[in-house]
Amino acid sequence: MSSDAAMSIRLPPECETALLERFLKAESMALWTVRSARLQDVPPNVYAFLRQHEEDEQQHLAQFETMIGRQPRERERLPTVPRQWPALAVQLYGYESLGLEFATLLVMLRPDLASIREDELVHVDFFEREILRILRGEAAAAEQATVSARAWWRKLPRTLDRYLEGAALDPYRPVLAERILAILEQRFRTTGLFT
Ligand SMILES: [Fe+2]
Ligand SMILES: [Fe+2]
Repeated sequence: MSSDAAMSIRLPPECETALLERFLKAESMALWTVRSARLQDVPPNVYAFLRQHEEDEQQHLAQFETMIGRQPRERERLPTVPRQWPALAVQLYGYESLGLEFATLLVMLRPDLASIREDELVHVDFFEREILRILRGEAAAAEQATVSARAWWRKLPRTLDRYLEGAALDPYRPVLAERILAILEQRFRTTGLFT
């Protein structure tokens, strides 16, 4: 589904700094998650994609660092990601879908950053195809993916609140959170993660 059509909320220019700040955090988290995922036992085509994916996220992060003028806090350890591929695929798909919605918001205020959104679309499409492959494959793996999707979903409202922190975003947080939840729910239903 097109997130352009669904994301009709217009944010005022005062929200730009807050959004850029959120992106600095989110892109560094994306980068570390991809690095962590590359250390897991994933199918060969996924491993190949993750190399490109890591490069993209590294470049996105560098762009936000330049715009904001500082670096995110360094992590001491890579974040823990699920070891089993179906669960890991759901996590990557979920966070990339979330990233795409944020990129859609950002591009309204910063049309010059459209290439970041295009990369996020590529990431979401890739993991979506992997999710479809898992759901149509072995029953145990498909079951693991749907169980993981429900678990990821339960944590999503809190994740969203964190992603939407910042005084400038206060008046928009409830409506944005509701809208993003609705878009992601629709996405999970369409792929078959939610039945
Ligand atoms: Fe990114
Ligand atoms: Fe991404």
